[in-house]
Amino acid sequence: MGAVVDTPHKTSYWSDYACVYDEGVDYVVGRALRRAVAGRLALERHLGNTIECGCGTGFYTKVIAAHAARVTAMDISAEMLQVADQELASFHNVFLQRADAEKMPFAPNTFDSALLANILNTVKDPPTVLGECFRVLKFGGQMIAIAYTDYGMAGTEKTDLGLRYFQKFGMPPSWGLHNFGPEELGNLVRQKGFTVRKLTVLGDKPKALYLRAAKDVTLGKG
Ligand SMILES: C[S@@+](CC[C@H](N)C(=O)[O-])C[C@H]1O[C@@H](n2cnc3c(N)ncnc32)[C@H](O)[C@@H]1O
Repeated sequence: MGAVVDTPHKTSYWSDYACVYDEGVDYVVGRALRRAVAGRLALERHLGNTIECGCGTGFYTKVIAAHAARVTAMDISAEMLQVADQELASFHNVFLQRADAEKMPFAPNTFDSALLANILNTVKDPPTVLGECFRVLKFGGQMIAIAYTDYGMAGTEKTDLGLRYFQKFGMPPSWGLHNFGPEELGNLVRQKGFTVRKLTVLGDKPKALYLRAAKDVTLGKG
């Protein structure tokens, strides 16, 4: 088990919904969008030694496990990890760890790949998580960041989306949820030192941002 900064609010928000999370997300963003994201993720190859931050119930962990040598799937919520443990029991290259993505208990330059699926939307300080991700990736390593978004939706559609969220997950965390547009997410990732390789918008209403970025090998040679 990793070092967890155990502030009650930080650990409790998603913990309350761990057992109903997958069904809740299907209701809020739609199963079709999650399938589209999983389909895109399934095209990734040679992920190597991979860190997944905020794995939740392991929905996307199953997808990357097929193309990774080893996945360290970490989450701050013990309840989420309990569900993931059941879901991922047959995946022998996945190792669950309770840890804080804002202060990862890993040495610099450890991982070949990192997956951040819908964690940047929910943490208080997305730049800190991206900075940590950059630190623990090897030079030449790649990061995949996924973020559901109401980008491009009309006002009433955004309100309906918010209502569906409220019905399933109640009030958002006290610091709010981050709703990134493509440009904003791209800029944030660049500001932390990554090179953005590709940013794709998947789905319709709502959509998901699918970003691939690299910790360029040339940075390690300077
Ligand atoms: C919206 S859920 C996404 C779950 C999963 N990645 C998915 O897309 O289905 C966000 C997850 O991030 C976790 N999380 C939130 N803050 C975290 C932090 N500081 N460190 C690690 N995990 C965190 C939550 O416990 C939750 O499981």
